Amino acid sequence: MFSEAIEGLNIAENGVYIDATFGRGGHTQGILDKLGLDGKVIAFDQDLAAIEYGKKHISDKRLSLIHSAFSDTSNEISSQKLTGKISGILLDLGVSSPQLDDANRGFSFNSDGPLDMRMNQNQGISAADWLATAAEEEIANVIYDFGEEKKSRQIANAIKKYQQNQALTTTLQLANIISKVLSSKNKQHKHPATRSFQAIRIFINRELEQLEQILQQSLQLLATDGRLAVISFHSLEDRIVKRFIRQNSKPPEPLKGLPVMAENIAIMPLKNLGKQFATQAEIRQNKRSRSAILRLAQRNLEVQK
Ligand SMILES: C[S@@+](CC[C@H](N)C(=O)[O-])C[C@H]1O[C@@H](n2cnc3c(N)ncnc32)[C@H](O)[C@@H]1O
Repeated sequence: MFSEAIEGLNIAENGVYIDATFGRGGHTQGILDKLGLDGKVIAFDQDLAAIEYGKKHISDKRLSLIHSAFSDTSNEISSQKLTGKISGILLDLGVSSPQLDDANRGFSFNSDGPLDMRMNQNQGISAADWLATAAEEEIANVIYDFGEEKKSRQIANAIKKYQQNQALTTTLQLANIISKVLSSKNKQHKHPATRSFQAIRIFINRELEQLEQILQQSLQLLATDGRLAVISFHSLEDRIVKRFIRQNSKPPEPLKGLPVMAENIAIMPLKNLGKQFATQAEIRQNKRSRSAILRLAQRNLEVQK
């Protein structure tokens, strides 16, 4: 999805671009490579390790790195007086490989570490603290709503029973509890804890709320013809992106009986540029990309001043 996303942004030489999910800067570097001397990338990540990595490894005066959640993009861009002047916004959602690979971050069910799961470790509560204080029903609802896990109630019940005897503080403790609940009938090749870990991570980081907020902000931020490119990795995210683009690009049906004339057709804020999937070659190289969907849209109208 790397080149498709960069192509999809249709980089203008002197444009100002937002990479809302800097990670290790792969996409940021891809944008910088296509920009001229007066172009600019403003990159966000709520993970301090990502920002520190960027400061150390990418030295480019056209890049500004901001340690913040992307729901704060609008405030930051407004303070730089760039609202309505952004040529493109890229969102490459979810966790990064370094976050998954570092057992100390608590995202992985394959290696043992503290059950944290916060992308920003300076904010909010860890997954372990939440699981220790949340009611069984709340845990079940989160696992069902954000993981689409059918056995959410049994998993929540097993978590609460486990906590009656000992504290639940590590990733492997949680993965084992979930595996025991799902083991007998689990014929899928995914790890049984995949959906529950995804659900808890989405909840702890308020991922869907954050996504809704930045999509809404993008309408004010983008200049006319500015592009929005969003790569999502699961159906909950993709549904939000699809609905947002549709609502802002599809004109309402004309009233019955009214002649269809140009002045009766509403001009919508976005033009839907469609979706793309990873190629077989990319999926062979990077298994995670098999569930990735890139959606593209273009800002139609100038922001009302
Ligand atoms: C899939 S990685 C992005 C990888 C990046 N495109 C690259 O080329 O290296 C997602 C990154 O977005 C960050 N992130 C996720 N949600 C965020 C949010 N709401 N605000 C800011 N950063 C976020 C994560 O911390 C992670 O570093």
